[in-house]
Amino acid sequence: MDLEKILILDFGGQYSKLIARRTRECGVFSEILSYTSSPERIMEKGYKAIILSGGPASVYEANAPQCDKAIFDMGLPVLGICYGAQLMANLLDGYVEKSGSPEYGSTMVQVDKKAALFASPNVEDVTATWMSHTDYIKTVPYGFNITAKTENCPVAAMENNSRKLYAVQFHPEVTNSIHGMDMLKTFLFDICGFKGNWKMSSFIDDAVAKIKEKAGNGKALCALSGGVDSSVAALLVQKAIGDRLTCVFVDHGLLRKNEGDEVEAVFSKFGLNLIRVNAGERFLAKLKDVEDPEQKRKIIGSEFIAVFEEEAKKLGSVDYLVQGTIYPDVIESGAGSSAMIKSHHNVGGLPETMDFKGLIEPLRELFKDEVRKVGLDLGLPENLVMRQPFPGPGLGVRIIGKITAEKVAILQDADAVFREEIAAAGLDREISQYFAALTDMRSVGVMGDSRTYYYTVGLRAVITSDFMTAEWARIPHEVLAKTSNRIVNEVHGINRVVYDITTKPPATVEWL
Ligand code: XMP
Repeated sequence: MDLEKILILDFGGQYSKLIARRTRECGVFSEILSYTSSPERIMEKGYKAIILSGGPASVYEANAPQCDKAIFDMGLPVLGICYGAQLMANLLDGYVEKSGSPEYGSTMVQVDKKAALFASPNVEDVTATWMSHTDYIKTVPYGFNITAKTENCPVAAMENNSRKLYAVQFHPEVTNSIHGMDMLKTFLFDICGFKGNWKMSSFIDDAVAKIKEKAGNGKALCALSGGVDSSVAALLVQKAIGDRLTCVFVDHGLLRKNEGDEVEAVFSKFGLNLIRVNAGERFLAKLKDVEDPEQKRKIIGSEFIAVFEEEAKKLGSVDYLVQGTIYPDVIESGAGSSAMIKSHHNVGGLPETMDFKGLIEPLRELFKDEVRKVGLDLGLPENLVMRQPFPGPGLGVRIIGKITAEKVAILQDADAVFREEIAAAGLDREISQYFAALTDMRSVGVMGDSRTYYYTVGLRAVITSDFMTAEWARIPHEVLAKTSNRIVNEVHGINRVVYDITTKPPATVEWL
């Protein structure tokens, strides 16, 4: 059975990935491609319909992103959302201009119930939608009907049902558009005729079959970090080729407290062919006296690869390298590249000098929450699957100044207390990421009758959906009080605890 799929043509909108997620939730597999994709490429890839995403530009600007107009003549149904709607109007000889009354946030829309897109009985005549636009469609192209309006926007939706072209100014993919999902379902099922039979559960069988086919009798190697992506990738490959997969777990000594042992314990239960390399001392030696954060990242990244390569050599010839690459890493985004704030070294990155027949990347098509679901279905424990993100260079980017074994131990202990207290307060699922960072600052304190001159530890907890921006978590004072009290009592070397109340931007999530 051929996989039915829809294309999300990306114009750099903040919700492009969300649109793709929503269609998958409806059982329709989706892929995101840049707006520059040619009609030939789109045809080749066999999409059954297209959604044009939103985006930050104005269609009448000189360098505004535009797709090829021919995509409207390919006979595929097209739904334009926000910028995508304006672009459809503009390319088909309608007229778009800057609005005197931009609309942001929840906005009531009056819809034409005779319109094909609003046919679902759940969609009422007047319905709440999520708007975010300064431009608006003033004149619809020839052959289109206006199908919705708001107080300030004369064309909140338009359609040419005979050509199967539809456009909405609002964002049906956002939950604040109360019946947005009903509209998307109407588009997918009634208008495009999708069957909606793509299921996460069929993913595992498909993935295992594909790996078997690709790997044949070959051997594979995987760098296991204990993170959810590499763990799920490794288990899928093990299911397909069993013992011919070897996993190398490089413990760089900068993991959280007891984490190395926990990772080893989980995977030995699965009978995974696992080599753990305890390389903590080696990493510390390389990091001796290094203070610059970028330098730390580089050293940890390249040392990781060196250790991994040494292990791989011991194994002799290996045909495939397994990687936990996930869909957000491979999306061809329509947005330009944004400025680099700090390099992100994903320890476990591809060793460029190694020779493999090929890569096995079983998660290339999945979003993070889909990877988690597969992980749970494969029997990985929930605490590993739902784990908060942890940077590849680990505590190396959470210790300000020089890194020493003593500082690593202090930070591991303080961080463990914070994590225990967050979990005990039931906040671990609400907070996106939370951890302790060790400052290089020592200050005077008093414990018992003696003076101390110890380090200050910083607690960081953020709420975010994409880690591009973040809000600091409003943790109840009692939880902070208990954490602070426990840290100064239980962790030798710390006499002061501070809580970071800075948003990103201007701060970043990590302190380095
Ligand atoms: P920042 O500090 O850039 O963090 O606001 C955003 C997210 O990225 C993680 N992070 C890293 N992850 N290697 C990684 O694999 C790195 O070098 C790195 N630096 C930051 C950070 O933990 C947060 O989730």
